[in-house]
Amino acid sequence: MNNIRTLLNSDGNSQKTQIKGWVKSFRSNRFIAINDGSTINNIQCVIDFENTNESILKRITTGAALSVNGILTKSQGRGQKVEIQVSEIEILGDSNPEEYPIQPKKHSLEFLRENAHLRIRTNTFGAVMRLRSALSFAVHEYFTENGFYNFHAPIITGSDAEGAGEMFKVTALNPENLPRTEDGKIDYSQDFFGKETNLTVSGQLEAETYAMALGKVYTFGPTFRAENSNTTRHLAEFWMIEPEMAFHDLDMNMDLAEDFIKSVIKKVMTTCKDDLEFLENRLLQEEKSKPANQRSEMALLEKLNFVSENEFKRVSYTEAFDILRNCKPNKKKKFQFPINEWGVDLQSEHERFLVEKHFKCPVILFDYPAGIKAFYMRLNDDGKTVRAMDVLFPGIGEIVGGAQREERLDVLQSKMAALGIEEKELWWYLETRKFGTAVHSGFGLGFERLVQFVTGMGNIRDVIPFPRTPQNAEF
Ligand code: 4AD
Ligand code: MG
Repeated sequence: MNNIRTLLNSDGNSQKTQIKGWVKSFRSNRFIAINDGSTINNIQCVIDFENTNESILKRITTGAALSVNGILTKSQGRGQKVEIQVSEIEILGDSNPEEYPIQPKKHSLEFLRENAHLRIRTNTFGAVMRLRSALSFAVHEYFTENGFYNFHAPIITGSDAEGAGEMFKVTALNPENLPRTEDGKIDYSQDFFGKETNLTVSGQLEAETYAMALGKVYTFGPTFRAENSNTTRHLAEFWMIEPEMAFHDLDMNMDLAEDFIKSVIKKVMTTCKDDLEFLENRLLQEEKSKPANQRSEMALLEKLNFVSENEFKRVSYTEAFDILRNCKPNKKKKFQFPINEWGVDLQSEHERFLVEKHFKCPVILFDYPAGIKAFYMRLNDDGKTVRAMDVLFPGIGEIVGGAQREERLDVLQSKMAALGIEEKELWWYLETRKFGTAVHSGFGLGFERLVQFVTGMGNIRDVIPFPRTPQNAEF
């Protein structure tokens, strides 16, 4: 059996060929376009109408699975270099055209989301999911080539790394009959793990312990957040890449984040050309239906090139705050969340203003107010900011969140005490600061946001196979 991608790249010198795939279209009772998923391009199979059984012809419908034997030849027609002159067709699986939802026409993304088990058969989702796979490989390749070890963080954990309390509980207790302690609380000592547990919101805390032994590690795994955010950038289950490096300060952390993102983008620009070109054209078509002032200035490939070739702008929170406080939309009260006082958290409208309107390039914001960031970030000498950094991207907003970690035991303890985080919950984490503590840093990159950026897909639900969002866990 041959793979269509390989056949399309060959020169068609009359070799015997067998392919298996799904019918994309069938026209003039003669030309079948078949796709096997190996590439966005279909192979044209030309049948001899006279000598093909009528009952077979009727079953060549969009979506049917076929096995085709024939001779690969140079194509007579335009639009393809090679084609298959069919000698034998076998219908492997019928597809009733009255019922098959994926017709050869444009479907809305909303409709396709409801058919997520079939949407991968469209050109758009085929391209997106092949790119997702290529990006995932590029991530592992980048870290391996740069001396990192892959670390598998636990998915079930007792800790809330981000301290935001947005966790899905994991329990084997019977909700109809919960064991209670004397004071009426749920008795988790009788639960499966003998304590309260949840699905991880980040593998960082565990990754830190590994960085303090293996030097440079990274996690790439599923991450869960029970935040009720119904936006185009939030999922309840997403994949996060979290490198963690011993002996790295915040500048080295920012350098790594920038180099990493640029490298994986460059990589897929060379390995996924066909899919990217298809997605670029798809976006160009979409842009045409928008009013001129809302069209984006760059086409997809130009944008990817721009980001991978230009330096990210590094700006402190305080500088960004001044820019935002004095900017037109703030003065004209156009922001939903006005910027008045130093210390406020930045919302996506502010991040997008900085990236898309002010700097017009990716931005790394650093040294955030301690009050709006997680407990583990290293306190600066000013006593009010922490060594945090966020990478902000056009069209996406925050794509990376990271920090230099607080390596001083006493400072970490007082920070935890102030936030009411009990030491006995994180005794093992504190021990990394007790035994051979060292400057270290890391960050988390939301994989789906990266896939969104690279594919130009507007909604995060369209870059993960089966999205989990509030009120939705179908499939
Ligand atoms: O900024 P966050 O919350 O950082 C952490 O979890 C750190 N522990 C990472 C670290 O330093 N090791 O999340 C990191 C990134 C965000 O920048 C965003 O790209 C993505 O994860 N992210 C989400 N992606 C999709 N849906 C959600 N609900 C997300 N929440 C965060
Ligand atoms: Mg963040």
